[in-house]
Amino acid sequence: MLNSCRHFIDTSEFSKEELMDIIDLSLALKRCLKSGYVPPLLPDKTLAMIFQQSSTRTRVSFETAMTQLGGHAQYLGPGMIQLGGHETIEDTGKVLSNLVDIVMARVVEHETLLKLAENSTIPIINGMSDYNHPTQEIGDMCTIKENLPYGKVLEDCKVVFVGDATQVCASLAMITTKLGMKFVQYGPKGHLLQDSPSAACIEQLKKNCATSGGSFTITDNIEAVKGADFIYTDVWYGLYENETPKEERIETFKDFQVNRELMELGNLGCKFMHCLPASRGEEVTDEVIDSNISLCWQQAGNRLTAIRGILVYLTRGSFEVGDAV
Ligand code: CP
Repeated sequence: MLNSCRHFIDTSEFSKEELMDIIDLSLALKRCLKSGYVPPLLPDKTLAMIFQQSSTRTRVSFETAMTQLGGHAQYLGPGMIQLGGHETIEDTGKVLSNLVDIVMARVVEHETLLKLAENSTIPIINGMSDYNHPTQEIGDMCTIKENLPYGKVLEDCKVVFVGDATQVCASLAMITTKLGMKFVQYGPKGHLLQDSPSAACIEQLKKNCATSGGSFTITDNIEAVKGADFIYTDVWYGLYENETPKEERIETFKDFQVNRELMELGNLGCKFMHCLPASRGEEVTDEVIDSNISLCWQQAGNRLTAIRGILVYLTRGSFEVGDAV
């Protein structure tokens, strides 16, 4: 490791208190923006955005956040830089540390992020890997905090993820258990978290619950959906290399669609969440995604909310939330 600067690769490396600081800072900055005051907290800072895969929300949010905070972002799309081609990932980390102030990377393999971080003297932010999606986690917690059921605090809430054990499912499990919430994955056998590329997170989920008082359940039993405050889903295919054919996956997941009947298993006032992009008519019906119980558009906006907070938190060191209010 070249130095010990703080990266944002896995929320398991942050305490509950630190994660709540980032969430509260993100929401405080959102209020600043809404009131018309944009604090130029990252003047003259440059962010390199490495994308090995396509993106709408992550790419637009990082670039917009840097502009709003007085900095600048460079888009380094698939095939545009030497990463892992003529230049090793390790050397790219060393080079970028001398050229920019922060790096965000969306990568095919999580290992790429770890190598970049080990060889960088500047913060590396995980913009999604095959293992997890931590900036999505912070945005989702901002959305949940803004939509807490009446009379409940975060720790009272039950969050049910329906469908495939994607990296977003693993991330949701990670942050909800870290914050002391109740997490459920309801999906088909063979596609539960222990069967996924993120299976290694399960040991961390156990540790999170032992510390926080939260819980996690991974099951193909629909009974576990009952009492949900938030029901969340993600696409059924297209996220990983070497997947089985699309038609086969649709057949596997077709009984795990989020529709009106499934939403009615949740608590009164249960809200729908989706990280997007969505395949309408597959993992979620139009009726649910377009209803007034759907939070997914607010969630998309909170990708920007969270990314502003994470950028400021990592680059300014200790930061009082009051600074931004
Ligand atoms: N949710 C999410 O990460 O969206 P993008 O792939 O469009 O960035």
